[in-house]
Amino acid sequence: MPQITIDGQRIETSAGKTIIEAALDNGINIPHFCWHPGLSVSGNCRMCLVNTGFPRKATDGSFERDENGNSVIGWGPKLAIACATPVAEGMVIDTKGERTEHAQNAVMEFLLINHPLDCPICDEAGQCKLQEYGFLHSKGQSRYDEQKNQKDKRVELGPNVLFDGERCISCSRCIRFADEVAEQPVLTFVQRGDHVTIETFPGTTFDSPYSMNVIDICPVGALTSIDFRFTSRVWEMSFTDSICPGCSRGCNIKIGVRNNEILRLEPRTNMHVNQYWMCDDARLTQYKFVNENRVTSPMIRSGNSLTPTSWETAIAHVAKLLQKYKPSEIMIIGSACGTNEDNYVLGKFAHSTLKTHNIDFLRHLDNNFADNFLRTNDRAPNSHGVVEVGVKHESSSGVSMDSLIERIKQHAIKAIYVMGDDIAEKSEIAAALGSVECLIVHASNHNATTALAHVVLASTAYAELEGTFTTMNKRVQYLQPAVATVENERIAGLEMSRWDKFGASNDRWARGERRNCRQHWQIIQDIANQLGEDWHYSNSESVFKDIANHVGAFSGMSYDLLQEFQGLTLGKADSPDPKPMMYKSHRLKPN
Ligand code: SF4
Ligand code: SF4
Ligand code: FES
Repeated sequence: MPQITIDGQRIETSAGKTIIEAALDNGINIPHFCWHPGLSVSGNCRMCLVNTGFPRKATDGSFERDENGNSVIGWGPKLAIACATPVAEGMVIDTKGERTEHAQNAVMEFLLINHPLDCPICDEAGQCKLQEYGFLHSKGQSRYDEQKNQKDKRVELGPNVLFDGERCISCSRCIRFADEVAEQPVLTFVQRGDHVTIETFPGTTFDSPYSMNVIDICPVGALTSIDFRFTSRVWEMSFTDSICPGCSRGCNIKIGVRNNEILRLEPRTNMHVNQYWMCDDARLTQYKFVNENRVTSPMIRSGNSLTPTSWETAIAHVAKLLQKYKPSEIMIIGSACGTNEDNYVLGKFAHSTLKTHNIDFLRHLDNNFADNFLRTNDRAPNSHGVVEVGVKHESSSGVSMDSLIERIKQHAIKAIYVMGDDIAEKSEIAAALGSVECLIVHASNHNATTALAHVVLASTAYAELEGTFTTMNKRVQYLQPAVATVENERIAGLEMSRWDKFGASNDRWARGERRNCRQHWQIIQDIANQLGEDWHYSNSESVFKDIANHVGAFSGMSYDLLQEFQGLTLGKADSPDPKPMMYKSHRLKPN
């Protein structure tokens, strides 16, 4: 185990690590552009130059000491790049001294020679690594009076990624990502010197299902999202940690919100789940449904239309409807898109309140979506958790999703209670639902099932709730609200941008809609209490505590631990995965 010293701090590291890795392991960030922990080393930006040396030895083999008794360091004749220089026993590294600083200033001056003054109109401004280093490691002056180079702007590298040649600092991160992670090696440098730029190979396009990750890792604004471009300045948004609901992988994400609307999703590092990446499909599809086509309050059918009503009226109405049926005539349908908390309370409602064995949930399998990287064939985020907390067809006498249509046709099932899933999306189920006497549906969006429902109970989307999902690998992960509703607005810690928080009522961006929707478990608790239960869950955390106390696999888990360890594996709360040192690219964009 080599011992090294970085900026006076003695560090024990492992042989084979580079200086930048050893520093990162110990929480020391050495400025860098081209290095990324998820990619191979290219060593071309020179931003990570550091002064290195070794304690000097006298001719008799002893270490030389200065008048204060400190080792005399024999500094190298030139600086070394920290990303490609392996550590060695006794190495002394100076990342802040005069020599290093001079090199950093010089590299920044060099990189900025041809960089356009685009910040006022650049999507990256406010989270840009080049901007940040411009403040921290540059003199802020240029000696370059000549005309700056002009290069191609707005070049489509693929369907989702736009390239601006003038802003590119030729770090090659995008090229290495396409090659090594997306495994679609279609990007390359062309030309030489200050004319160098990025192109796709003739006849190819960068359309990998993971192409948009290059937007995040590009240290400048050279790669922008065609979907997001110019939608918002970064400082106008708030960013909240969450979990992608697009499939059972459970990629960790950040949700970007302005005016109570989601404007973009981006990956959040979790080395045990998605490393630094997420898929394009999720970025493009997993936010618009939170903003659009929402059920904004409870509704009761009268004739051909659904009429908005109060929660009190809707809850009382549902309780009355359910009392009309025998337990065996009621079917309860959980949701693999709902949280563990929601499904647990639904299971309790079915088993102990309604006393029915008819409980199951719909699977969302799509083999075309799966690949050998992150995407899985289960398009729901919580199929594993649903089963674990008790929403599963077990009893031979109970009705399952497979036998539901038959049992409806036999008039054995007369009432169906659906928690959040669009079951009528399947045409054969939709056809059968027409003959059901009572269809009660929790829904966040208008859909084929709400069109047939007798009562619609407005429910939160994943971005508006607090709870947990369990991934395909049995990892329980925590998600929290990013978008405010009438109910959750008062939750402490709900991230809001300054725009949203301090906007006056006549400001353009302070009037985002707060929907009158509730979490599934809240709705179910209110109905259960109308039916004689005495449940007192005050928040999602209290439901989760109940799960941890009653469902063995969750034993020992808590929201605090789930956040601390970025998820815990079922049955292994007492032996969490190690917490790796998190890579933070730079302060303005900490992911
Ligand atoms: S486009 Fe961005 S990631 Fe690609 S080489 Fe240029 S600066 Fe680096
Ligand atoms: S792989 Fe699955 S969980 Fe990950 S971002 Fe894509 S859809 Fe979401
Ligand atoms: S980060 Fe080391 S040369 Fe670019």
